Amino acid sequence: MTQSSHHQARYAELIFRRYARETNQLVAGTRHAVIGGDPQHAALADALRSMGAHVRQFATVHDAAAWPHTITHAGTASYLEGRARSTAAERIAWATDHMPVVATLARDLAENQRIAGLKIGMCLVLEPKTAVLALTLAAAGAQVSVYAHPEETDAQIAAELANRGITVFADATANPDRAQELMDEFLNQHLNLLIDDGARVIRRAHHVAGALDELIGAAEETTSGLRNLAKEPGGPRVPVIAVNNARSKTWFDNAVGTGQSCVSTILDIIDPGQDGWSIVGADVVVAGYGPVGRGFARHVRALGGLVTVVDTDPTCALRAEIDGYQVRASLVEAVATADLIVSATGYAATITPDMLRAARPGAYIAVAGGVDDEVQWGDAIRHDGATWEPVGFALESLRYPNGHHVNILDRGGCINCTAGEGNPIEIMDLSFGVQLSALDVLLTRGRDLGPGVHPIPERADQRVSAIALAQFVHTADAHSTASTDTDVRPGIGRPSL
Ligand SMILES: NC(=O)c1ccc[n+]([C@@H]2O[C@H](COP(=O)([O-])OP(=O)(O)OC[C@H]3O[C@@H](n4cnc5c(N)ncnc54)[C@H](O)[C@@H]3O)[C@@H](O)[C@H]2O)c1
Repeated sequence: MTQSSHHQARYAELIFRRYARETNQLVAGTRHAVIGGDPQHAALADALRSMGAHVRQFATVHDAAAWPHTITHAGTASYLEGRARSTAAERIAWATDHMPVVATLARDLAENQRIAGLKIGMCLVLEPKTAVLALTLAAAGAQVSVYAHPEETDAQIAAELANRGITVFADATANPDRAQELMDEFLNQHLNLLIDDGARVIRRAHHVAGALDELIGAAEETTSGLRNLAKEPGGPRVPVIAVNNARSKTWFDNAVGTGQSCVSTILDIIDPGQDGWSIVGADVVVAGYGPVGRGFARHVRALGGLVTVVDTDPTCALRAEIDGYQVRASLVEAVATADLIVSATGYAATITPDMLRAARPGAYIAVAGGVDDEVQWGDAIRHDGATWEPVGFALESLRYPNGHHVNILDRGGCINCTAGEGNPIEIMDLSFGVQLSALDVLLTRGRDLGPGVHPIPERADQRVSAIALAQFVHTADAHSTASTDTDVRPGIGRPSL
């Protein structure tokens, strides 16, 4: 890569990161007008296109006004177009305006009086989109309470929800014992419906006296949560809807949104000043090529990173090969030359102490999957004499007695959830739309379903996508009409990075 093409790709990286950070909105499937004809603008257009955006380049903002677009990728103006998104209330308001699927499906539930008076417990990453779901269910007449794991709790959002009458069992500063107490208090409320992410709460409910007595059923959000439920002897004793397996969840949340949000969060942690480490030309090893690994790899490649994939399943490895990535059989060998190593498996012990020792000195290591011990840094401390040294926000160096060191992001937590703002809003709108459909299924058919894990019906899955599809198309049309003579904003020029 020449110096000038590196510079152009770096420009694209920084604009992408700014957009993702400022808006928490999706790139894929949305319309972007790139203003300017310089090579760096072409690089930006290419990067966004490679992520799945609908992109057109225009010489001036006047030319762009005739084309429907949501974002103009040039200019000093904020992507928020004058709105603030700093307080919890502002962040919740911004998310609310971009979650039409949740609004529509909650309206249906409210109209049918299905959830009025029911006790609904939610255990999800506590951030603005989750707050929208909680408030929407409460507005539809449910008694809503929220539990969140400490590392997945945004304290400001928790406080804002409590102010608005939601019962909150979440404390970002809780130690493991206190977190367990909070979870048990949450389960002691005799919940009627439970929404979970990771299945820790569903599994715990089986061991808290009385917690299943009034429970009609639960809905589970993630791949690893369903995997954990499958390991339970005898399986769950209530119906559990496999939200994760809906196409309108996996195809977009796992396969697209997680890639965008993990890449942007990782880059913001490694390069907080936007003046140092770049993904452009970096060697990135991705462990696991399921939907999450695939989406992550796609976003890294779009920004100019060089991806190597390792997957223990030959079919997934073949898929990576056919998608055009370098594929290696051995993770311990692949990490030796990597600048960034990311686990997207959702399995414990993916990045082992051997790999931490074999990694390129100074390599960055992060998790896009998200189970405990996915990176075994604890073993490196216990058995290899390694020590921690804080380096920056959500970044620590693991230092070995022989001078070797690697940098671990947020102690191997699920990086977009523990150190970022989670998946893009439009993506969580879809996933939470599936959650609401799951509640509807439990309320209409719960008693017939019986204990065990059940798929979401195909029609309910399609309805979620249909609402989202109409909204994507409608947004483009609305912008088309509105922008014909009004989309000339002052201050459009070179972006200030
Ligand atoms: N960060 C987020 O916001 C987010 C969103 C959705 C899902 N997830 C989580 O991401 C994880 C992956 O999700 P998915 O849907 O892609 O799962 P998946 O099971 O479809 O894919 C995981 C892949 O990892 C491979 N694998 C397992 N162990 C491996 C190892 N040691 N080395 C290399 N490859 C290995 C498997 O063969 C599989 O192909 C899950 O834990 C899921 O819950 C996170």
